[in-house]
Amino acid sequence: MESYAIRTHELTKSFGSVLAVNKLNLKIPYGKTYGLLGPNGAGKTTTVRMLNGIISRTSGEIYITDKDIKSHEKYVKMISGFLPESPGLYQKLSAREFLIFIGELYYLPKSVIISRVEELLELFGLSERANDLLEGYSRGMKQKVCLCAALIQDPQIIYLDEPTSNLDPAIARMVKDLIKELVVRADKTIFICTHQLDVAEELCDQIGIINNGILKIEGSPTEIIDNMGAKNLEDAYLKVMDVTKMEDLLSWRESGELNKKIVISRKGKVKKGKKMVV
Ligand SMILES: Nc1ncnc2c1ncn2[C@@H]1O[C@H](COP(=O)(O)OP(=O)(O)OP(=O)(O)O)[C@@H](O)[C@H]1O
Ligand SMILES: [Mg+2]
Repeated sequence: MESYAIRTHELTKSFGSVLAVNKLNLKIPYGKTYGLLGPNGAGKTTTVRMLNGIISRTSGEIYITDKDIKSHEKYVKMISGFLPESPGLYQKLSAREFLIFIGELYYLPKSVIISRVEELLELFGLSERANDLLEGYSRGMKQKVCLCAALIQDPQIIYLDEPTSNLDPAIARMVKDLIKELVVRADKTIFICTHQLDVAEELCDQIGIINNGILKIEGSPTEIIDNMGAKNLEDAYLKVMDVTKMEDLLSWRESGELNKKIVISRKGKVKKGKKMVV
């Protein structure tokens, strides 16, 4: 069987009556950047939290570097870096103390922790303020600290939930370049959740658009744009969402068949039925 950095089979998560992720099948190759797009409440964060082993799944399977997450939870956590969408920081620690603490959680040797922390603080322009308490940091500065924390153990797979949302344009540019560099130079696999379509278009080899927990369409940005007969990714995204909205509006006529997946013919015509995977 082919080897993938991340593979899921019919991955499903329910919170009570809310079906957050519905039979998600992903195959993400090593060294690629995958972008999961979708509206608020689509199931992006829930997916990432399951892939990291932070929350358990309701059903389905997850394989990280071909290892079943069920029996390799600790391994998965060790090789995964995660930038959460609403990060919890210990406000009474300084940035330096916080990053050292995170490094210790990964059992890294002290000398490695010290040099990585200094390297990352420098990279993100935080060195001068590194001894200030996090409670005094701005939102973007906190985001930078969280990015440092996600990278500290030099993870093989990096999950970034809205990586550039709170950053000023110059730092957002730096983070985008850093993501590219991590893929090219260090051969990392990167999984990004974002609403920022320009970020997805620039960075991602493969994109999945999810709505109501269902993967509606998947492919490279160009494939998605071509297949939707769109001008750009934003246009393609809006077209996918419109089809989805139409399905929702018509769903009362189709008892038990809510959220049918989209099929898009090569000519860009949208039909109902099975999901398109290009
Ligand atoms: N801990 C939880 N308890 C109950 N419901 C939850 C929980 N976490 C997520 N959900 C629900 O699951 C669905 C998917 O939420 P999720 O946070 O994955 O969406 P998202 O795509 O990340 O949205 P956003 O773009 O707003 O971050 C939503 O309906 C949400 O209310
Ligand atoms: Mg989210």
